[in-house]
Amino acid sequence: MSIYFDNAATTPLSGEAKSAMIKAMENFGNPSSTHGEGRKAKAIIETVRKDIASRLNCKPSEIIFTCGGTEADNWALISGIKNCDVKHLYTSKIEHHAVTHVAEYIESNKLCKVHYIPHDNKGVHDFGWLTKELESKTGENIMVSLMHANNEIGNLIDLQSLSDLCKKHGAYFHSDTVQTMAHLPLDLSKIKVDFAACSGHKFHGPKGVGFAFVRQGLTCKPFILGGAQERGHRAGTENVLGIAGLGAAFNLCFDDMVADILKVSEVKKYAITRLKTEFPEVQFNGLSGEIENSLYTVLNFYHEELHKNGMLNFQLDINGVQCSGGSACSSGATGGSHVLNSLNSPGGTRISFSRYSSKEEVDSFIDTLQKIKLEL
Ligand SMILES: Cc1ncc(COP(=O)(O)O)c(C=O)c1O
Repeated sequence: MSIYFDNAATTPLSGEAKSAMIKAMENFGNPSSTHGEGRKAKAIIETVRKDIASRLNCKPSEIIFTCGGTEADNWALISGIKNCDVKHLYTSKIEHHAVTHVAEYIESNKLCKVHYIPHDNKGVHDFGWLTKELESKTGENIMVSLMHANNEIGNLIDLQSLSDLCKKHGAYFHSDTVQTMAHLPLDLSKIKVDFAACSGHKFHGPKGVGFAFVRQGLTCKPFILGGAQERGHRAGTENVLGIAGLGAAFNLCFDDMVADILKVSEVKKYAITRLKTEFPEVQFNGLSGEIENSLYTVLNFYHEELHKNGMLNFQLDINGVQCSGGSACSSGATGGSHVLNSLNSPGGTRISFSRYSSKEEVDSFIDTLQKIKLEL
């Protein structure tokens, strides 16, 4: 038996993305070359860019391909802060490390002042506090950076009202949308984020490719210097195969989004019900147990007895269930999850679903947990 419940870390490559990449391999041109082979490669990239822009209701020129979500976050924050002459960054301690470590860099290099928005033990931010801060700094250059959905606890923020709040106070708004891009509809003509991030491997595309959304009119000087690729925004010969795969996965997820949200939400609801029934003492970290306030793909639970020896994820793994204690990028770090620590949670296991997850897999997962409990 093998069950993959770690889709917030990465997702299996879809057949559609694989086929698009294999097809793109037929062309070897350098997209910057002006001859026929080059133009064919360029056409692949520009078709994907246009497709993405039409799905997000933005301009193709606002999409800049990167090597993934981490680069998009780094670029938007560091270059955005420098170029927009930002004096105050407001973010949170429970962002992905692609943001928290950048915030630490910004602070230690004195690029601007960094403020952390308080949150409660469920990971809910104090937006009243943020509003007062924005009011008190009217006229100063401010950036707010908050992720759309937390990758560990699934908490969703209301992107529309937060972007309205930022615009009302003239603040720039960056959102790490890595977990929600191609998972939830996002109309960038209405939601006024200035910077957003996408990573192909979170929605059945390839790894090592993503994009930054940078709203037209904002100057964000290149982070990676060299050639004039991506209209001078990001040097380096483009990852044509990756972009082709990302485009196919993006289209697939947007085409099937309504059905997938319904289907995967049912799987998550079922997992919540079965966990509560079989392990009545179970607790859910963050808002992950609340369907309407969390991302439909992420569930993070804690059970005193199951977690007491700190071996649950390992025991699940040797029994064929793959899930995680938190962000995969931090698995080599000591001290546990910075998100769960910040929530004062005693620990947890994240199970995360995709369009390929099923209720039958949830049943096998529950059986495995019961077996592990008996052996404790
Ligand atoms: C919320 C969030 N931001 C950023 C990243 C980094 O994306 P990438 O793996 O493409 O660098 C991840 C991946 O784990 C993520 O979950």
